[in-house]
Amino acid sequence: MPPRSPKPRLTTDARRRAAELSTRLLGFYDREGRDLPWRQTKDPYRVWVSEVMLQQTQVVTVLPYYARFLEAFPTVRALAESATDDVLAMWAGLGYYGRARNLQAAARVVVANHGGVFPRDWADALALPGVGRYMAGAVLSIAFGQRLPAVDGNAERALARVFLVRGHIGSGRAKARIHALAEAAVPADRPGDHNQALMELGALVCTPRAPQCGRCAVRELCGAAERGLQEAIPRPRPRPAARAVTAVAAVVRRDSRVLIRRQSGPGAWSGLWVFPHAEGHELDAVGLPADLAAPTGRVVQVRHTVMQRRIDLKAHECRAAQGVALPQGEWRWVKASELEAVALPAPHRKVARLLGLGLPPTRLLDAEGVEHAG
Ligand code: ADE
Repeated sequence: MPPRSPKPRLTTDARRRAAELSTRLLGFYDREGRDLPWRQTKDPYRVWVSEVMLQQTQVVTVLPYYARFLEAFPTVRALAESATDDVLAMWAGLGYYGRARNLQAAARVVVANHGGVFPRDWADALALPGVGRYMAGAVLSIAFGQRLPAVDGNAERALARVFLVRGHIGSGRAKARIHALAEAAVPADRPGDHNQALMELGALVCTPRAPQCGRCAVRELCGAAERGLQEAIPRPRPRPAARAVTAVAAVVRRDSRVLIRRQSGPGAWSGLWVFPHAEGHELDAVGLPADLAAPTGRVVQVRHTVMQRRIDLKAHECRAAQGVALPQGEWRWVKASELEAVALPAPHRKVARLLGLGLPPTRLLDAEGVEHAG
């Protein structure tokens, strides 16, 4: 991690406006905040799971996953004691699977070292796998009422506008200033609601494009709105263009079954079940034994953007020949109707759906919050 910029000093005026911001935000939250399941609990585990899911995924997508996940793993202990495969299967389609692996690894630490309860201590929380400053602040403020900020991308944008932070949002200076402002704004009373209200404002009103200043509860405090700069702030961080990649997959069918293999190696999909696939155009490269399958000529294509890669995946439906042995390693013929219970990543779920293999829709967000593979 780069060294943090020195802690900025805030003027008395900035402090006064930060305090006023909180009062107005809480009013907004009480009137207009969405009634979401993780807002009906102070159970640190439930709050934690919601925050992990919400870190890279929109609320509407998270809702069904959240319910199913907690049904399968109702406590930290249940999660810690489950097979990682089962955890990944519950996460399948949400993307960024490192989140699920870290969540389970952290649950195991919580059980081993903290009596099965998310630790209240800041340093202990930060020491958990996958828990950074945002996550620790969110869980400790929402579940335990600790006066700590939790600044996600939505909150960051809203704060940058209100307090006219003109630098690139990713720059160390801008980040440090926003964090200092967030710290000053969070009240001792209802810190968790305050943090959620700020994120809610960013998600519903103070949106990246066309913010609805006309209905904004903090408009009178907003430096950007006062100057008509709400669309110019925050300045976007310069991003490298996504690299275009082509990939090819084989969807091999045999009666009512379809062939999948487990992804090995260190990549993002490690441990998930996938259709055999490879980069490039050549179906031969996907690792099927010769003569196992012949293409039917039916091809579907999906586009998927993740981690600065724009992947065009062409999937070829194939029909299996009788009596050819599967390669060494973890391969399975699964019933198409059982694919849903398998940890299949979102683009492969989409392929399955396009080929009529019957999966419910899923949505994935890339790093910019744009939906793909829906
Ligand atoms: N984004 C991440 N966590 C959130 C929360 N608790 N409320 C609103 N938006 C969020």
